Amino acid sequence: MKRVFSGIQPSGTLTIGNYLGAMRQFVDLQEEADCLFCVVDMHAITVPQEPADLRRNTRSLAALYLAAGIDPERSVLFVQSHVPAHAELGWILQCVVHFGELGRMTQFKDKSTKKNVVTAGLFTYPALMAADILLYQADLVPVGDDQKQHLELTRDIAERFNARFGHTFTVPEVMIPKVGGRIMSLEDPTKKMSKSDESAGAYISMLDDADTIRRKIARAVTDSGREVRYDTAEKPAISNLMTIYALCAGKSLADVEAMYEGKGYGVFKKDLAEVVVATLEPIQARYRELVESDEIEHILREGARKARERAAATLDQVKERIGFLL
Ligand code: TYM
Repeated sequence: MKRVFSGIQPSGTLTIGNYLGAMRQFVDLQEEADCLFCVVDMHAITVPQEPADLRRNTRSLAALYLAAGIDPERSVLFVQSHVPAHAELGWILQCVVHFGELGRMTQFKDKSTKKNVVTAGLFTYPALMAADILLYQADLVPVGDDQKQHLELTRDIAERFNARFGHTFTVPEVMIPKVGGRIMSLEDPTKKMSKSDESAGAYISMLDDADTIRRKIARAVTDSGREVRYDTAEKPAISNLMTIYALCAGKSLADVEAMYEGKGYGVFKKDLAEVVVATLEPIQARYRELVESDEIEHILREGARKARERAAATLDQVKERIGFLL
C-alpha cells in the first residue's frame, strides 16, 4: 500500500483552489493508500500570525478536513506542532539543504519581495516541508502546482542524504491533478487564487455563503467574445471558470464546452454559481457541526499519537546515521 502525506497551512479560510487542487485528492486517496494529513501550523508562523487567530484557524482547518471527508479511522489527521520530530528533522535537513537551493525557491521570492521583515523561517521553510514528508517515508505527495518546486527540492534533499549516509528516506513522487492543479484568481486569471489575496472578490472561500458565492462569480472577470470555450491562451478567465465547473460537477471540460455551446457567459456563470454552492453547502453543514463539538480535540490527540509513533522510527535512524550520540 502506498504511503501518502500532505499538509495545508492554517493561515486563513481555505479557498476553492485549496479544495480542488489538494483536499479533494486527499479524500479520494484514502480509499487506496495509507494517508497522513497535517495542519502545518509551524509553517504558518513563518509570517506573522495573531496567536488567537492561529489557534482558531488550526482548529477550523482540522474541522474542514473532516467535513470534506477525511476519515480519522482511515487516515492520520494531526497538527504539525504536536509532533516535535518535525522540528528536529527540519533542523537536520536545514543542515543538508544548500543556501543557494533555498534562494532559488520562487515561493520564497514571491513572499519575501516588498516585505519589510522576512523571517529566517520563511527562507528555510522548504527544509521543514521536506522533513514533514520524509519522516513518514511517503511515496506520494498530493499538492497543487505551486508546491512542485518544493517537492523537487525534497527529492534532492532525500537523495543527497541517502547518498551520504546510506539509504534512509523514500524519495517521494509529487502528484498534481491534471485539471485543477492551479485554480486562478476570479479577478485576474494570470494570478493564482490565493487566500491571502487583498481582495476577497479574487477567491471563493470554502466557507462563503451561497449569496457571496453567487455575487463573486457574477463579478468574476471574463474574456472578450461570448463563447464558452476552453483555451487557456485566448480565454484564460473562462477556462479557469470552466475548470471549476468541471471539477465541481464531475464533468469533463469537453462536456462543459458542449453544454454551453451558443449560450454565452451569462447563463454559464449563473449555473456555475449553483454548481459551486451545491459542492460547498454539504461540507459547510458538516463543518458547522464539527467546529462546535469537542470531537476535533479527541481526533487530533489520537492523530498526534499515531504520527509520533511513526515519525520516531525514521528520526531515530537519522540520528544514528548522522552520528548523534544515542
Ligand atoms: P498551502 O497551505 O498554501 O496550500 C494547501 C494546498 O492547496 C494547494 N493550492 C492550490 N491548488 C490549486 N489551485 C490553487 N489556487 C491553490 N492554492 C493552493 C497547494 O498547492 C497545497 O497543496 N507548503 C504547503 C504546505 C505543506 C505541505 C507539506 C504540503 C507543508 N508541508 C508537506 C505537502 C507536503 C503550503 O503552503 O500549502
